Amino acid sequence: MKSIKASGIGNPIDRIEGHLKVAGKAKYASEFPVENMVYAQGVNSTIAKGKITSIDTSEAEKQNGVLAVITYKNAEKLKNYPKDMTNFSLTTVAPVFQDRQVHYYGQYIACVVAETFEQAQYACRLIKVTYEEETPDIHLDKNRGKAYKPGESADFSRGDMDAGMREADVTLEQTYTTPIEHQQPMELHAAIVNWNDGKVKMYANQQILNQATTSISETFGIPKEDVQIITPYIGGGFGSKLNVYKHITMATMASKMIGRPVQITVTRHQMFTNTGMRQFDEQEMRLGAKKDGSLTALAHHTTSHTAKNLQYFEACGNVSKMLYKTPNNAVTHRLIPLNIQCPSSMRAPGEATGSFALESAMDELAWKLKMDPIDFRIKNDTQVDMGADKPFSSRLLIECLRIGADKFGWENRKMQPGTNKKGNWLIGYGVSAASRRAPYMKTSAKVVLELNEAAVNANIKMDATDIGTGTYTIVAQTVSEYLGIPVENVKVEIGDSEFPVTPGSGGSWGAASYCNGARKACENAIAKLKKKQNITESEEIEVAELLQQNNLTTFEAEGTAEPSEEYKKHSVFSFGANFTEVWVDKDTGMYRIKRMVNVGSAGKILNPKTAYGQIIGGLTMGAGMVIAERTQVEPNYGNFITRTLADYHVPVNLDMANIDVVFLPEDDKIANEMGVKGIGELGITSVAASIANAIFNATGKRMRDLPITPEKLIEAGLEPGVA
Ligand code: MOS
Repeated sequence: MKSIKASGIGNPIDRIEGHLKVAGKAKYASEFPVENMVYAQGVNSTIAKGKITSIDTSEAEKQNGVLAVITYKNAEKLKNYPKDMTNFSLTTVAPVFQDRQVHYYGQYIACVVAETFEQAQYACRLIKVTYEEETPDIHLDKNRGKAYKPGESADFSRGDMDAGMREADVTLEQTYTTPIEHQQPMELHAAIVNWNDGKVKMYANQQILNQATTSISETFGIPKEDVQIITPYIGGGFGSKLNVYKHITMATMASKMIGRPVQITVTRHQMFTNTGMRQFDEQEMRLGAKKDGSLTALAHHTTSHTAKNLQYFEACGNVSKMLYKTPNNAVTHRLIPLNIQCPSSMRAPGEATGSFALESAMDELAWKLKMDPIDFRIKNDTQVDMGADKPFSSRLLIECLRIGADKFGWENRKMQPGTNKKGNWLIGYGVSAASRRAPYMKTSAKVVLELNEAAVNANIKMDATDIGTGTYTIVAQTVSEYLGIPVENVKVEIGDSEFPVTPGSGGSWGAASYCNGARKACENAIAKLKKKQNITESEEIEVAELLQQNNLTTFEAEGTAEPSEEYKKHSVFSFGANFTEVWVDKDTGMYRIKRMVNVGSAGKILNPKTAYGQIIGGLTMGAGMVIAERTQVEPNYGNFITRTLADYHVPVNLDMANIDVVFLPEDDKIANEMGVKGIGELGITSVAASIANAIFNATGKRMRDLPITPEKLIEAGLEPGVA
């Protein structure tokens, strides 16, 4: 049946849409030619807390080309947040201009619509606003009394933490901090919105179309079916494009008001204040272990912040519930409301930061125990998720650690810090374990087959998105595999909310969900064609022949895949291990990441090339957490000091190392029928710890506050040869 096997899954084929991207032919949200289009631009508040007392738009309105200025005075009434502190979910409404209140610096307070982008921008500057300003809550330290527990899922415990600590021969209590970070994908948030007769159609770079349409329909009080979002390509999301943000609302409102399609682009600067971020996390770890290395207790307490009216929390402690065999365990999360925009998901929310704390603490405890940090982790391995009280569907963490150690040359590591030197360089090796939930969700797809002479072409449709991850390619490979046709004969149509519903791109569930949905549509097509001819299911017959026997030149089928009962009975995670070699200059504290090895077990790898891309992207973002990424908040006014890519530094090629990526052969049939598990967020998880641990091994300095800058290393007393 499979005539061209090389086209199926598991092959490292190039991205099928790659040529469109390099030729500039792939159309992104803001690039669609729409007739009669005008431009909107948002205006941001210049205070973090208070009330608008006056807003004078007369000068702006007089300008050439200006069609409308929208403020709280003339904005239509939208559905507002249901209560004072609303949970920020993927379907939360996105109201704007509903009152005079300002909750954070940069909140949209007005929007100008003009014939050209430049006219809109210019007029924005002519709007005069006065405020009744109040002192904003900006500091975590000054507002600790306001800390609260954000719901039942925030806390977890098993066993008796204090008893576990008493049983321990060696204990560790340390606090780890990670700064606010911003996702900052290359493609700016943008939309072209057309409100037409109560229906809205938009080009908008949203990661999850089926949730975004809900959010928009509820904001405007219109049926969900009347909202269409189209986004064939997305230039990166990292979580920032999961939620519907207020620029979408502004453009929709503007289009409705003036009766023309409205284009809006969020500026890079506005992407710091208006499209989400990762919050500051303070993580207190308490660990105890017996002399032989077995953990007796593990506690993970996170304090973080949220907005004044919206609640989001990054579940940093979740990793501590499941990664190691810990009979006594306590996890808490507390939030402090601040006058800063609401945090949101940023690549591996919870795991990326939580694993920095846990995997640094594990390294510290191993050092106290005088145990090799790999042996220490292996000693505490578990095949049962003790947090969920379920077995893992598969867990190859020990294999990841052992194979990685071998590949990396771990045996050359000197246990004693500061003893591996080369001239001015102090050389260190670090390791960390990674785990990332591998969700799989209900997904539908429709396949249309066409017979041309003896060849079959297939067209697959689903409301999936490709955020740079390779969705087009892996879906085409799946259709090729299950129909037994060359990948070149598959056309993938995604990025339209009117196509069959998928869970969208987020949370590392895309690949497993999309491909199983596509598989199911193909399997249904074949099953139906066989049934019509009374051919038994097991008989191998080419799809072209099936169509011929049925006298059909075209045929279509839909399919929906969803998690099995077995899936629900298990805990489904991807696992990995990170190894890093760093060289630290003993005088300047400058350091280089020289080598990285990442070993992952993430189920069946659909396409090793796109999977590799995901991992090196994750490793790079993980390195960014350590070497540079930090959004700084102005301590009095609450604006972000870092608000361009010139001062919010992300790693570039020169910062990165030689990277080896290994995928262990795995085929987890409990995870789903195709044995596929998520990979996108596994790549960033625990990378920061592996680098920090390598810095400790190089210098003897334990760095618990990210990013680890040369200044911090020098302040830590990095003297020549210190151990
Ligand atoms: Mo992800 S942070 O769910 O895009």
